[in-house]
Amino acid sequence: MAEEAKKEEIQMEYRMLGNTGLKVSTLSFGFWATYGVKEGVDRCVAVLKICRAAGINFFDNAEAYGKENGDAEIIMGQALKKLREADPKLWRRTDIVISTKIFWGPGGGQNEKGLSRKHVLEGTNASLKRLQLDYVDVVFCHRPDPLTPTEEVVRGFTQLIREGKAYYWGTSEWTAQQITEAYWIAKMENLIPPVVEQPQYNLFERTNMEKNYLRLFEAPYKIGTTIWSPLASGVLTGKYNEKIPEGSRMAQKGYEWLKKRWEAQQAEKTKIIQKLQQIAEKDLNTSITCLAIAWCIKNRNVSCVLLGATKEHQIEENLKSLAVAKKITPEIMQKIERACAGEEDDVINDLKKESTKTNKYKPTLPGTYGRVLVNKTDPL
Ligand SMILES: NC(=O)c1ccc[n+]([C@@H]2O[C@H](COP(=O)([O-])OP(=O)(O)OC[C@H]3O[C@@H](n4cnc5c(N)ncnc54)[C@H](OP(=O)(O)O)[C@@H]3O)[C@@H](O)[C@H]2O)c1
Repeated sequence: MAEEAKKEEIQMEYRMLGNTGLKVSTLSFGFWATYGVKEGVDRCVAVLKICRAAGINFFDNAEAYGKENGDAEIIMGQALKKLREADPKLWRRTDIVISTKIFWGPGGGQNEKGLSRKHVLEGTNASLKRLQLDYVDVVFCHRPDPLTPTEEVVRGFTQLIREGKAYYWGTSEWTAQQITEAYWIAKMENLIPPVVEQPQYNLFERTNMEKNYLRLFEAPYKIGTTIWSPLASGVLTGKYNEKIPEGSRMAQKGYEWLKKRWEAQQAEKTKIIQKLQQIAEKDLNTSITCLAIAWCIKNRNVSCVLLGATKEHQIEENLKSLAVAKKITPEIMQKIERACAGEEDDVINDLKKESTKTNKYKPTLPGTYGRVLVNKTDPL
């Protein structure tokens, strides 16, 4: 009876994953910084059961995830095996969509990272072993590789697909220019173009989805998007407002960089979060967590929102955002906009004025993601 009630509450929606013809659940599930880091296979099985019962059909991983790179794929492989054994119909491979991402392989050697054809093929083969799968539906380049020509990358992923190791390939955090370049190389050379991008998207990180990629959502590209960190790593639950809670992502060993980044922004962002909390409670009778996820759902260029959760109660709460999205009116959207812009808040306006006064123009250098030609320690 309780199970029935839960099912009624959650009405999963499905969206097209770009031009692939695949339907993915608007809320989907990813494995970063959770399983294989601090949680094991039993908790993973429990959370995945809730996901699938709610209609989630897309699960994302990466060769880089886990305490040691690859650990998260091992846990996912073990969990899927257990779940399939317990309920083969619900977990049939033909109805679920699984992705992984290639760039930072577990070995860490010079040729065990990046997007060379060698690493794309060897990395994916190793991922499939860890996942205990014959193929993934989608394989992403976890980042652009400044050291591998785009044509070589397109050839690598085309080969992977032609070998049946994946059905589609996509990019993550590539620029619109890099994606269109890959697309047109594929078209000209009779190769397979990328069809999906995995960008960060949340109330604090909007530029790619709302500005840079707009042209990519139109023909001929029509790329799909599987957006990540809808809660900005948990910040948009409000739980980091006062302190770093014990056992949370930012308290984990290896995630000190995340904590440091948050502490640099905490004063400014906490004020915005507090306003969003008020809107969530007063206008939507919900939590800021659900408001933040629901706000991502409202963007029709989002194919699916990748959720992360380390506990059953977290995923149960996050799934409620589907219903909340339906209650967000244009007026509430405007209120959210104003809260994010720090309007009607003298402290934030003052902070902004201060930062414009002191910030001189600094050009942004392209990221290398650990792929550099010459190391500082290398003799020239
Ligand atoms: N392509 C990329 O470069 C990239 C990068 C990052 C993520 N991703 C993908 O996107 C997925 C989602 O990203 P994300 O994990 O950063 O999403 P997120 O929703 O921003 O953060 C999820 C984390 O927040 C905490 N949390 C979630 N729900 C909560 C709740 N109701 N109450 C309190 N805390 C809650 C949990 O961490 P704790 O319990 O540990 O605090 C959870 O693991 C990843 O798993 C991965 O598949 C891709």
